[in-house]
Amino acid sequence: MYQKPSMKFSFINRQILRRLYLVALVILATLIAIWCEQVQTPKSVTVTSLTQPEKVLVDEPIQPIPLKIALNQSKVGLGEKLFREPRLSADNRVSCLSCHHLNTGGADEVAFSIGVNRTVGNVNTPTVYNAAFNPSLNWNGKFKTLEALTEVAIQNPTDMGIDWQVLIPKLQQTPEYMQAFTQNYADGVTKANVNDAIATYLRSLYTPNSRFDQYLRGNQKAITEEEKEGYRLFKAYGCVSCHQGMNLGGNLYEKFGLMGDYFRERGNVKYADLGRYNVTQNEADKFVFRVPSLRNVALTYPYFHDGSVKTLEEAIKVMTKYQLGRSLSQKDIESIALFLGTLTGEHPALNQK
Ligand code: HEC
Ligand code: HEC
Repeated sequence: MYQKPSMKFSFINRQILRRLYLVALVILATLIAIWCEQVQTPKSVTVTSLTQPEKVLVDEPIQPIPLKIALNQSKVGLGEKLFREPRLSADNRVSCLSCHHLNTGGADEVAFSIGVNRTVGNVNTPTVYNAAFNPSLNWNGKFKTLEALTEVAIQNPTDMGIDWQVLIPKLQQTPEYMQAFTQNYADGVTKANVNDAIATYLRSLYTPNSRFDQYLRGNQKAITEEEKEGYRLFKAYGCVSCHQGMNLGGNLYEKFGLMGDYFRERGNVKYADLGRYNVTQNEADKFVFRVPSLRNVALTYPYFHDGSVKTLEEAIKVMTKYQLGRSLSQKDIESIALFLGTLTGEHPALNQK
């Protein structure tokens, strides 16, 4: 008689306890999930996740460049010294900076740059700014890493043309380099370490906070109505199908002349015009190029792998004709050019006069 209600009471009690226990479990699981999320999305994107897009408020086919990327500043400093060093060339006259001018967009203003012993290049010099975000490098996508590209650029007869067997002792005999390398690397001056230092410096050449990125991060006033119209057209006409992602390019291969024979109309087809074919030897890759990034494009004239076009408006005309098979009004071309102008970002060396 006495036992029954008590059993009932303890039964209810146990049920409540079980529910409370379940609720507590759910809360705990949620807390763990939130914590994991925070750990997995750090505030500043690190070197190993350079191409990981940032979550922004607006859902757009283009993502902003991270505002801050964590890098070993001592290696960046050594890399910068090497980037500016003419002793890295056979005739002690050419440095990376000779062709990649940092205050004029990360390239130079001629169709083909002049390398060691006055040799002339066969493609236009692309910018080094934001190159670290490109999954493949060069017009034909030959290199996958900045280190591999640097190793070849130093030795290339049309770039710096110096043998590694000559360069390593040359650096070892320079006390300032001996000291800087031993400070940063246990094994001192080696080919791998030269490439690593320069590649680390190249990773520091990113240009965040362009007006367009400010707009992507939610500041509606960062770009004008006309520039917004240019962006709308850029998407509506399909430019964005090739020029997209964080770099507005760099991540796709496309034929130059999808809708018209660019090369026949230009004439004088050369080896470099074969593009990706020179890497893969695949017939279908003839005249195929890596879609270039349009970050800072207002500064990186002349345009195209052949450096044939001097103004942005002319480049947009070429694109609409040969990639889209259309002809746009002058007004639309001007709007798109205005939009492209909002892609100029910030870097101390870029904004220096
Ligand atoms: C003589 C001019 C010249 C010199 C010197 C030179 N470059 Fe370049 N650079 C070029 C050209 C031209 C290309 C494109 C080559 C191609 O596409 O076949 C290029 C491509 C690049 C790219 C690829 C960019 C991209 O997004 O595809 C990087 C990065 C780069 N160079 C860094 C360097 C570094 C680092 C050095 C010094 C070790 C250097 N360059 C020296 C002319 C030069
Ligand atoms: C089907 C893909 C595709 C489409 C669509 C496309 N592009 Fe391109 N774009 C490319 C390729 C590939 C190149 C490089 C061509 C070359 O020089 O070999 C390029 C180059 C450029 C360049 C020159 C960049 C430089 O640094 O030299 C600009 C500017 C440009 N595109 C803007 C546009 C605009 C604006 C549109 C829309 C009107 C557009 N593109 C549509 C693939 C495309």
